[in-house]
Amino acid sequence: MDWIREKLEELKLQSLYRVRLQREGLLDFCSNDYLGLKDHPEVIEASIRVLKDYGLGSGASQLVSGYTKHHRALEEKLAQFKGVPCCVLFGSGYLANLGTISSLIEDRDLILSDELNHASIIDACRLSKSKVLVFRHRDYEHLEELLQRERKNHRRCLLVSDTVFSMDGDVADVRVLKELSKDYDCMLYLDEAHATGIMGKSGRGGLELFGEGWEEYIILMGTLSKALGSYGAFVCGSKLLCELLVNKARSLIFSTSLPPSVCAGAKEAIELIEKYPELPQRLRALSAYINENLSALGFEVPFHGTPILPIMVYEEAKALAIRDHLLRKGLLVQAIRYPTVPRGKARLRLTANLKYKNEELELLLGALKEVSPLPPL
Ligand SMILES: Cc1ncc(COP(=O)(O)O)c(C=O)c1O
Repeated sequence: MDWIREKLEELKLQSLYRVRLQREGLLDFCSNDYLGLKDHPEVIEASIRVLKDYGLGSGASQLVSGYTKHHRALEEKLAQFKGVPCCVLFGSGYLANLGTISSLIEDRDLILSDELNHASIIDACRLSKSKVLVFRHRDYEHLEELLQRERKNHRRCLLVSDTVFSMDGDVADVRVLKELSKDYDCMLYLDEAHATGIMGKSGRGGLELFGEGWEEYIILMGTLSKALGSYGAFVCGSKLLCELLVNKARSLIFSTSLPPSVCAGAKEAIELIEKYPELPQRLRALSAYINENLSALGFEVPFHGTPILPIMVYEEAKALAIRDHLLRKGLLVQAIRYPTVPRGKARLRLTANLKYKNEELELLLGALKEVSPLPPL
């Protein structure tokens, strides 16, 4: 097995070797639990009630005996929250993208995908065996050029984009994507993993942010694992879409369903977002505050009004060194490197979270000041 040793050595030489850091005892500044709901007492309480009643696992896939009133209730809640007729649950966002994209698109079809889409979309495109064209990040003129050239040669067509890009925090132009989908008779697939619960006035996601309504050709995927503080994922759209997924999506059919307690916790989280509609706005204000402070320290932190605040470091080794400096102070801000982001675009993954206390943020800013790119005054 020398080849494994050699492969790992190669990764180490390029500063691309990975280890899993145990989180206990550290202040976590890079999670996706943006609203702090994973620890909310009402979310935990709702989940425990169902856990006691139903036990730990769901016991089977949705189509065998793993579908309960808690799965259904969450699907109905999500459909109402997203403003669509129907919703289907998946075991994770990765599984949702794999199962849905490969159910919608087959080998004679066409997918157009943003170059910075999440890895699970890239893998889903590969699995579909269709023609896949990648357009430059958020470059919709390039997308239209590709559509003009290729659309006529294919049967079905899917435009696919993250709504909020997970490692850059910038936002797709949902309005333009909708127009292009209509003009070129394509389906539009939006991965709302980082938009659900936080984007738009009341956290409903990309369509709300752009003041747009849902239409039948739009498929909204999202995760329960980020702002909803739980685990799992969903795909929303027309009733026909849901029927197709239940019958065709292999990652739904051949995988154990979510535990009922997880569904109950996620449903409670959505109800909290509805009950406290100021949460998304508070998160935006906190994100802007952190960004201003980091910029004042001389860091390059592209800001797009989302809680994803990448501190650009570029060099992989340097990103690791800053991460380790923060770790020694008990602060967890993970270094993100290739292949999660392109080579030479390493960054620290800092995210805003409503549960941060002022003194915790001060600790973080103090520790970052010690490695600030600005010379000391
Ligand atoms: C944009 C995007 N899509 C899909 C996923 C996958 O979701 P999950 O972690 O539930 O598998 C993630 C994150 O993990 C993501 O950032």
